[in-house]
Amino acid sequence: MQQLADRSTTLTPSLTLAIDAKAKKLKADGVDVCGFGAGEPDFDTPQHIKDAAIAALQAGFTKYTPSSGTPELRAAIAAKLKTENGLDYKPSQVIVNCGAKHSCYNAIIATCNPGDEVIIPAPFWLSYPEMVKLAGAIPVIVPTSEANGFKLTPDQFRDAMTPATKLIILNSPGNPTGSVYSADELKALAEVALEEEILMLSDEIYEKITYDGTAFTSLASLGKEIYDLTITVNGFSKAYSMTGWRLGYIAAPEPIAAAIDSIQSHSTSNPTSFAQKGALAGLKGDQSFIGEMVKAFSERRAYMHDRLTKIPGITCVKPMGAFYMLPNISSFGLSSESFCTKLLEQQNVACVPGVAFGSDAHMRLSYASSMENITKGLDRIEAFCASLRA
Ligand SMILES: Cc1ncc(COP(=O)(O)O)c(C=O)c1O
Repeated sequence: MQQLADRSTTLTPSLTLAIDAKAKKLKADGVDVCGFGAGEPDFDTPQHIKDAAIAALQAGFTKYTPSSGTPELRAAIAAKLKTENGLDYKPSQVIVNCGAKHSCYNAIIATCNPGDEVIIPAPFWLSYPEMVKLAGAIPVIVPTSEANGFKLTPDQFRDAMTPATKLIILNSPGNPTGSVYSADELKALAEVALEEEILMLSDEIYEKITYDGTAFTSLASLGKEIYDLTITVNGFSKAYSMTGWRLGYIAAPEPIAAAIDSIQSHSTSNPTSFAQKGALAGLKGDQSFIGEMVKAFSERRAYMHDRLTKIPGITCVKPMGAFYMLPNISSFGLSSESFCTKLLEQQNVACVPGVAFGSDAHMRLSYASSMENITKGLDRIEAFCASLRA
């Protein structure tokens, strides 16, 4: 008897984890590995956020909350979305989930039927296509070009549309591209979505992390018709360095929010009670931590980009947000997996092959790590590339 459901066998095994496991094994064996795989800020959660969660625990705030989150947190998120993003959501339209990953998943299963097509610009965050497959829907991958800063154009979007298209996923600032869409670029894409009433999932988890004065725009703020088709996803992981706390949220038109509320009430129920108190303190407290973190990322980004683009054979689009760099390594004539495996074996540097994100011409480096790690790692990458060219 076939024990596993089809949905669990169609998932793509995570390449990221394979390289990560090798890197961890080397580290455990005492090898000095330079890791560039991190998908999370290398800063601790601010103390006032921890204190609020500790106080909540000690006060016995350890029971179920409403499955969509506490009323006070939902209200604080609605207020944040209004003041920071120009978005009018009532607290009832805000559903707090166990991380932005969970938010994306809930949004997709709440809206996509088997056979529906979901447009995903590539390079993409690697969980999107797998979530779409879990819903029985079909990921339609649309490659973007480096010349256009890895951004989807309205024509590319229109060309990818079929009568089965249900949803497009936009992620700005993007992982792994670091690209940030301007308000005009988002509006032009949204106008294509409006033509056929395609839903838009706007993953805004890297909202706070942009560089060189690049403005962030929340898709749903661009007009009532766009708002009506948009599911906004955000969370606490990246901005407040709370990845392990597992707290994200969606904000959506009433019927979609209600559907997600219902799905959540029968699956995970509420996100952790005392973690929600920490998130509330994050939203209401001093925000200066974010600026300091982004300043550190900005310095590392400038250094890493400068070093990478000086290596013969490598080109690299300058990321305008998030904390990843996506150099093009195709001139070396290796697949991204082979390049990254050799780089790990020969120089003890762990990067993620671009094929995991839908682009075999690239590899991804995270600069959410110390300057010391970055400097040492780049010395080794330089030596590795020179050896390939020798
Ligand atoms: C684009 C994108 N969306 C969502 C997530 C998930 O965030 P969370 O940790 O809040 O689930 C990540 C995490 O790496 C991400 O890169």
